[in-house]
Amino acid sequence: MFSKETYIQRRALLKKALGSGVLLFLGNDEYGLNYADNTFRYRQDSTFLYYFGLSFSGLSAIIDIDEDKEVVFGDELTIDHIVWMGTQPTIKEKSELIGVEKTMPSDSIKEYLLKAQRKGQTIHYLPPYRAEHKLKLLEWLNVPVAQQQASVDFIRAVVNQRNYKSAEEILEIEKACNITADMHITATKILRPGMKEYEVVAALEAVATAAGGDLSFATIATVNGQTLHNHYHGNTVKSGDLFLIDAGAETSMGYAGDMSSTIPADRKFTTRQKEVYDIQVASHLAAVSALRPGVSFKDVYELSARVICDGLKDLGIMKGDSSEAVQAGAHAMFFPCGLGHMMGMDVHDMENLGEVWVGYNGQPKSTQFGRKSLRLARPLEQGFVLTIEPGVYFIPELIDLWKAENKFAEFINYEKLETYKDFGGIRNEEDYLITETGARRLGKKIPLTTDEVEELR
Ligand code: GLY
Ligand code: MN
Repeated sequence: MFSKETYIQRRALLKKALGSGVLLFLGNDEYGLNYADNTFRYRQDSTFLYYFGLSFSGLSAIIDIDEDKEVVFGDELTIDHIVWMGTQPTIKEKSELIGVEKTMPSDSIKEYLLKAQRKGQTIHYLPPYRAEHKLKLLEWLNVPVAQQQASVDFIRAVVNQRNYKSAEEILEIEKACNITADMHITATKILRPGMKEYEVVAALEAVATAAGGDLSFATIATVNGQTLHNHYHGNTVKSGDLFLIDAGAETSMGYAGDMSSTIPADRKFTTRQKEVYDIQVASHLAAVSALRPGVSFKDVYELSARVICDGLKDLGIMKGDSSEAVQAGAHAMFFPCGLGHMMGMDVHDMENLGEVWVGYNGQPKSTQFGRKSLRLARPLEQGFVLTIEPGVYFIPELIDLWKAENKFAEFINYEKLETYKDFGGIRNEEDYLITETGARRLGKKIPLTTDEVEELR
């Protein structure tokens, strides 16, 4: 945990931003995996952690701005709980650590909220993303699930704070990035033809656990890198394969790292693999060198997409003007995802609050295939932490579909593209902090160029 002053100051800024009303914070509970007592890994809600720092199940909190009150709601452990699960500090002791004086039992929150409503106070809550949140809002506020409307003012105020990382947060994110880099370096060293994908997963995930943290998201480690978020790990790695890893660590305080690497199953890349890999690296480096305050991330995305088109033109897979191809959306055949996203306590930071607020500052998103998957498009500002992860993917089903429609035939050479249908996909990803004048990579360097990768093989 940070010091209590951090949490006191964060709440004070939030109160000032909202001005009035009651802010309701729904903590996360334990969740049964296959029966109630066999639970998923516990993860506190990130906004709860940001303002209240307590990573324990069964807690809720309110900030009553009008009455100038902050309350943590929770129940003390019973002797049965202590016998089976061990003891914990009392709710009072926990709350003292974050500078909250008032605590109340869980079952009093409904009455508190009812009274506030009777007094005409507005109850603000954030988008409920778990069934337990929706049930609590139904029970406490009597709002049917389908009518639960999160407070846009609350969302915007939280996003406006959490998007700008403080010095102590950056240290914590950098810790996550260093562990994440070690996960990738370990995997790059051990990968060999004949291994199962899950053996690589086990080795890289052990690095995160051994560092005292956990994973920031479900590991992608696959010979089918053309599938963007492939969570299947049962394939055997063969000579000639490309192996794509997208994996990250989360620190015990809940901050994330997120990196990707693409490794040849053999010690060296083939010439064909290297040709495409170099295009991804060129796109990646062009994006990184464009990062600075004031630059719109949408422009950085378009730059990275143009570099991919230029490279694919050199290989005879694309043709025509790269800028026109990107405007039309033809690049999405090979790059159907975004360039990157905000990262912090969530690997896709605050995605539960809405990308349109986090990454677009309320501006509308494009609906064009490919461009619509861009999670971040707003002008960059000092203190933002984001990922850079362009990719070059050859997705057989998409190739077949667009070819049958003769889609973007002025930009795509389908005859040549047919010969790449078995290629797979390439993505490399690093994490960056936007500084006063540019950007700084967070965490130690993982191999990026083909030479750097081959050096570890
Ligand atoms: N690391 C997974 C993603 O960025 O979507
Ligand atoms: Mn990512």
